[in-house]
Amino acid sequence: MTQFPQHGMSVEILRQELLDLQRSDWRHSEGRLPLHGYFASEAVSNIASEAAAMFSNTNALAPNAFPSCKKMEQDVVSMTLHLLNGNTESSGSITSGGTESIILSVKAARDKTRASRTLRRPNIIVPSSAHPAFDKAAQLLDIAITRVPVGADWRCDISAMERVVDSDTFLIAASAPSLPYGLIDHVAELGELAIKHDIWLHVDACIGGLLAPFVRQIGHPVSDFDFGVAGVRSISTDLHKFGYTAKGASLILYRDIEDHRFQYSHFRNWPKGEYVTPTLAGTRSGGPIASAWAVMHFLGEDGYREITKRLMALRDRYLAGFEEIKEIAVLGHPELTVLTIVSDKVSIFSMADEMRRRNWYMSLVAEPAGIQQTVNLVHESMVGPYMEDLNAAVAFARTQDSDEDFHLLHASRVVTY
Ligand SMILES: Cc1ncc(COP(=O)(O)O)c(C=O)c1O
Repeated sequence: MTQFPQHGMSVEILRQELLDLQRSDWRHSEGRLPLHGYFASEAVSNIASEAAAMFSNTNALAPNAFPSCKKMEQDVVSMTLHLLNGNTESSGSITSGGTESIILSVKAARDKTRASRTLRRPNIIVPSSAHPAFDKAAQLLDIAITRVPVGADWRCDISAMERVVDSDTFLIAASAPSLPYGLIDHVAELGELAIKHDIWLHVDACIGGLLAPFVRQIGHPVSDFDFGVAGVRSISTDLHKFGYTAKGASLILYRDIEDHRFQYSHFRNWPKGEYVTPTLAGTRSGGPIASAWAVMHFLGEDGYREITKRLMALRDRYLAGFEEIKEIAVLGHPELTVLTIVSDKVSIFSMADEMRRRNWYMSLVAEPAGIQQTVNLVHESMVGPYMEDLNAAVAFARTQDSDEDFHLLHASRVVTY
C-alpha cells in the first residue's frame, strides 16, 4: 500500500518524479495516438494550459465569489449556441465532459416530461452506435434504455426506432457523429419522429459540435444535426475534443431555457440554506471554463476555419491512402474526421496486432471489426509512416487465419480504447 512520504519532496525531485511518470504515457505530440488528443498548435495548447492553470483554484459553484467563471461560462455557451443555430431563448452549462452532458440531458428530459404527464416505465431509445453514457444515465436515473441496431448505412434506423416508441418513451437520441463509426445520424428524420410522438430529441455532438459547423463553413456538405433541425431539444458538445481546450470541459445546450431549468438540483433542507447546482458537480474548477474561453478567443472563427481546412485536407490524405489498399474499406461515408476501416478479406485484429508491434496505439471497433483514426493536426507529419505500416500490417494479416476476428471478438479481447 502506498503511504504518504515521511518528508515532503523538493520541487526539483518532484518535477523529476512527475517527468518519470509521464514517460510511461503515450504522447499526443508524437502522432501515434489515433484518439484522446486534439491538437491545433503549440500556441493553442499553451494558451489552453495557461488559462486552465490561472483559474484552477476558482470555483464556478460560487458565482458571487467568482463572477469571472460565470461570465466566461455564459460567453462560451452563447458563442457555441450561435454556431449551432440556437436562438435568444437558448441556454446551457459547461460540464466536466460528454458523459456528464448526456446524463444531464436525460435528467432534464425526464423531469420536464414528468411535469406534464405520468411516466410509468420511463424509457429512452438510442441507436446501437450511441455512446455508453446514455446507459450510464439510464442506470443512474433508474429508467429503461433500448438500443436499436443501426441501418445498413451504419446510421440510426428511423423506422426501427419508431417501432419501439411507447407512451413512456420520453427521449430519443442521435449522434453527430457516433464514436464507433464516425457517421452523423439521420437527425432531420429523427426530429420529425420526435415531433410526431412528442418526444425530446437529444443530439450527441460531443465530437462534431465544434467541428461540423466549421467543416460546413469551409464549403463541405454536412448533414443537418443542430438546433436548425425542428425537434432537437438539447445538444451535447465537447470543448475538450475539437474545441482544442484543456480536458474536463463539455457543453450541454438547450433550445429553450425552460428545458435547461429541469437540469438543476435544488435543495434547502439542511442548515446552510438553499443549495442550487446546475450540473452534477458541486465544486467546479474554473480552470476548464477559462481554458475554453481563452482558446475560443485566441482562435476566433477564422482560426477554427484555418485549422479545419488543414484537418479536412489531412483527412483526405488518409482516405486516399486507405483507398489504395484493396483489402480494406472505409465504413460508410464519413463527413468529418473520424474514420473507421474494415475488411472482409483479412483479419482486422491481426492488422491491429502488427500495427501495435510497429508502435502505433490502436483504437478498435468491435462490431464490425474495425480500426479507427480520429484525424487531427498532430497526425500531419505521421500520415506517411502510418500508411506504410498499414500496408505492412495488411501483408502480415494476409498470412493469418481470416477467422481471427471472430475468435478475438468472442474471446472478448477487444478493448476499444
Ligand atoms: C460521441 C461521444 N459522446 C460522448 C462521449 C463521452 O465524452 P467524455 O469521455 O468526455 O465523457 C464521447 C467520448 O469520446 C463521444 O465520442
